[in-house]
Amino acid sequence: MSAVVTAEANGQKATMPAAIVVEKIVKRYGDFEAVRGVNFTVAEGEIFGLLGPNGAGKSTLIRMMTTLIPVTSGRALVAGYDVMKDADAVRRAIGVIPQALTSDQDLTVEENLSIYAKLYSVPREQRERNIAEVLEAVDLLKWRKAETKTLSGGMRRRLEIARGLVHNPRIFFLDEPTTGLDPVSRIAVWEMLNNLKKTRNLTMLVTTHYMEEADRLCDRIAIVDHGTLVALGTPVELKQSVPGSNVVEVQFARESDEWMRRLQALPDVTDVQSQSAGVYRVLTSNGSKTTTQLVEMAASLDEQIGSLSVQNTSLDDVFVHYTGRQLRDEQVKSVFVMPTRPGANP
Ligand SMILES: Nc1ncnc2c1ncn2[C@@H]1O[C@H](COP(=O)(O)OP(=O)(O)OP(=O)(O)O)[C@@H](O)[C@H]1O
Ligand SMILES: [Mg+2]
Repeated sequence: MSAVVTAEANGQKATMPAAIVVEKIVKRYGDFEAVRGVNFTVAEGEIFGLLGPNGAGKSTLIRMMTTLIPVTSGRALVAGYDVMKDADAVRRAIGVIPQALTSDQDLTVEENLSIYAKLYSVPREQRERNIAEVLEAVDLLKWRKAETKTLSGGMRRRLEIARGLVHNPRIFFLDEPTTGLDPVSRIAVWEMLNNLKKTRNLTMLVTTHYMEEADRLCDRIAIVDHGTLVALGTPVELKQSVPGSNVVEVQFARESDEWMRRLQALPDVTDVQSQSAGVYRVLTSNGSKTTTQLVEMAASLDEQIGSLSVQNTSLDDVFVHYTGRQLRDEQVKSVFVMPTRPGANP
């Protein structure tokens, strides 16, 4: 369960200069090793996703790469500078959005940005232009005079993103930029990040708990678990690395201890995950054949199927494959249960 897929075959990316290089990096808190020797490289212009369950070490990795905490051993180069030896040069090259919201509620949108621009020594004559540009980029220009406490959660996140960009960094670190936002605001933030990447030629390292977003927007994804990198590749490579190319999701009307064994015994089936009572995700290398056989099996046992769907392997499946669990409790897909028809078998 610990294969590492690399994107080295992707010739174009491999030849591009690296924005971030992390080598055998370790972070120890007393006896506890939060990060245990992680290696990866992020190419210039890439959106690189860091995925992992709570406590995996994502924020710790970001804090080391952004010079906020010292590295215990190994090294990280950001924009070519060693985070331990050249912290100031690293800081000038990067923008950071920490996991917690940190903009000052009592200041206006513009004041929050202005303070940061000064902190980063943006020359006075450039400040106003930069502030207008980043506010435009995150679609907050008309809110520039608004007090931050009057903004919605999504707008506040956008303000934080604008603030991280006000000194024109080349590399942008974002720790869970969309957590806590409703689905519409999440999509808006990711679209904005995608535009920023294109228009500002930014490299981005983003952590997220949302698989579909990572799938759509990250060029490559690293999955970390217990401080270790367990998989690395493009979303397509990661999905291909999981045995089985389709997922059949089935719900049996009657729960039975036997379903797991019966499903595993079907030809082409590579894995079976129990979702909830009577509901299974069946990974298979032949979705249509497995579906047919599954229906025939249920019919021969005189069992009813409540619902059935065939999908391609998702990043959720990749995540479960490499970490052995769902990303977060709320990430567990809700199951659609067909209403029982009058006269149907219970
Ligand atoms: N200052 C600290 N002292 C001791 N342990 C720490 C400290 N900071 C983090 N840890 C531990 O290191 C591990 C990794 O934490 P980290 O915050 O990096 O996880 P994460 O992947 O960002 O999780 P989440 O998804 O919840 O944000 C956790 O077990 C955490 O308790
Ligand atoms: Mg974190």
